[in-house]
Amino acid sequence: LYASQGEDRTNSMGVNLANDIDLAALAGKINAAVKPWAAGPLVPGASSTGPTVAVTSPADRRIEVGQWQAADTATVQRALANAVAAQPSWDALPAAGRASILEHAADLLEARMPEFMAMCTREAGKTLIDGVAEVREAVDFLRYYALQARRQFITQPLPGPTGESNQLQLHGRGVFVCISPWNFPLAIFVGQVVAALVSGNTVIAKPAEQTTLVGHAAVKLLHEAGVPADVLQFVPGDGATVGAALTSDPRVAGVAFTGSTETARAINRALAARDAAIGVLIAETGGQNALIADSSALPEQLVKDAINGAFGSAGQRCSAARVLFVQKDIADKVIGMLAGAMDELAVGDPGLLSTDVGPVIDADALKMLEDHAARMDREATLIRRVELGEATAHGSFFAPRAYELKHLGQLEREVFGPVLHVIRFDGDRLEEVVDQVNATGYGLTLGIHSRIDETVEAIAARARVGNCYVNRNQIGAVVGVQPFGGEALSGTGPKAGGPHYLLRFVTERTLTVNT
Ligand code: NAD
Ligand code: ALA
Repeated sequence: LYASQGEDRTNSMGVNLANDIDLAALAGKINAAVKPWAAGPLVPGASSTGPTVAVTSPADRRIEVGQWQAADTATVQRALANAVAAQPSWDALPAAGRASILEHAADLLEARMPEFMAMCTREAGKTLIDGVAEVREAVDFLRYYALQARRQFITQPLPGPTGESNQLQLHGRGVFVCISPWNFPLAIFVGQVVAALVSGNTVIAKPAEQTTLVGHAAVKLLHEAGVPADVLQFVPGDGATVGAALTSDPRVAGVAFTGSTETARAINRALAARDAAIGVLIAETGGQNALIADSSALPEQLVKDAINGAFGSAGQRCSAARVLFVQKDIADKVIGMLAGAMDELAVGDPGLLSTDVGPVIDADALKMLEDHAARMDREATLIRRVELGEATAHGSFFAPRAYELKHLGQLEREVFGPVLHVIRFDGDRLEEVVDQVNATGYGLTLGIHSRIDETVEAIAARARVGNCYVNRNQIGAVVGVQPFGGEALSGTGPKAGGPHYLLRFVTERTLTVNT
């Protein structure tokens, strides 16, 4: 939304980004745009001797994507020392100055959209459509947080008796560690980092191991836009070693984390165990997201939204629809239509415009999904298994499928991939359904399909979720429009892309002067 609109903005490939992108024309160029590239720590004064990791494409493991070098212990320590030293002068800059760097980065990113799309396709297996959304969301975060910083980071004069002046100032907290997942290698990575930066913190960014190359390219772009090298440092590596070393260090004031609930808990424990000031944790984690449809739902719309929500991005979204609760009266019809619609899904090469579902991220993810499917084959009823398309033999491809379950207890945990579970319910047990969903302990997204206002209001009021969507799909929150994030096991808040997000990255200081 905050990506430039209505301006004449032509990028390096001669595409006017202000207008709709002609993906068909771009597809060939995009696939040819990126040659193998290399990454490593970006830490002034350090030269890492950490191990080198070769990256191949999730769509075809024969395709070399590039390689990256992990940070060693000395590099981690150097990054922390640099970040502490650089923070006061970065924080002393007017917020508007930091905001203008973000806006410049947004311009650069828009101009290089095809290149970043291609990198997301290569390293993360994103489809081209998802690649567009990924770059646009990153641009939105840059522009939105710049706007919010200009609005919110002002010194507020406060009342006081004659002879006394009072003011409330907002400052960066210190050093923030940003730890991101692989499923939004650009958008979430950039969103966390620039929120912390524009608030006056120095940042050490640790990307997911699976998508280090995209993170590296994003940090280089932010440096080019004007973020000093010691203010934003890139420290790639394994979560259990490099991530844990960063989050347990007493010099760290806060951690912005997106990933699994288990890792959020580990980071929370690491922060609490330090002999240091109490650290701030902003965590966005997983979900066990439901889509509830009563018998007044429009079946065509419901099926379309269920397909999008469950299988879009190969189901690798925290917001994805995992369980469709459908009222018994319409269940046979909806399940039949769902099976038919699944037959139309094209699974295959993410670099082709015709592809709906690309690969899953890696062999571990594939194994987890295959194990789950094997259990579902024994314990549930298969509704449909989509046939894999051509060119899937050398990648991590999982055939999307839907199962009918008897009850929610058959699902033990979040299944992070293209699997939809369907459960029928009696119309008079709607409240029980919502209570069961609440009882999972997660609270991220909920879809409601109903044309009865009272039903919609009752479900929305009873559900404990961060993002509730009515008669539409439940993925793809837009920055500044649908502030995104859950509660309970799904995250700490505040919501990314919302007006309260930056405020968690700052500390308040009151200055009272006896004039
Ligand atoms: P993950 O928790 O395995 O990894 C996320 C990051 O944490 C990676 O960078 C990893 O290296 C790091 N890490 C792992 N162990 C660590 C430790 N002990 N200390 C510090 N850092 C550590 O998650 P994932 O598999 O990459 O991502 C998928 C999960 O993310 C799913 O559960 C999904 O629902 C969730 N997710 C949530 C949101 C949201 O906004 N709520 C968005 C995207 C993904
Ligand atoms: N913010 C992403 C979505 O809404 C995860 O789908």
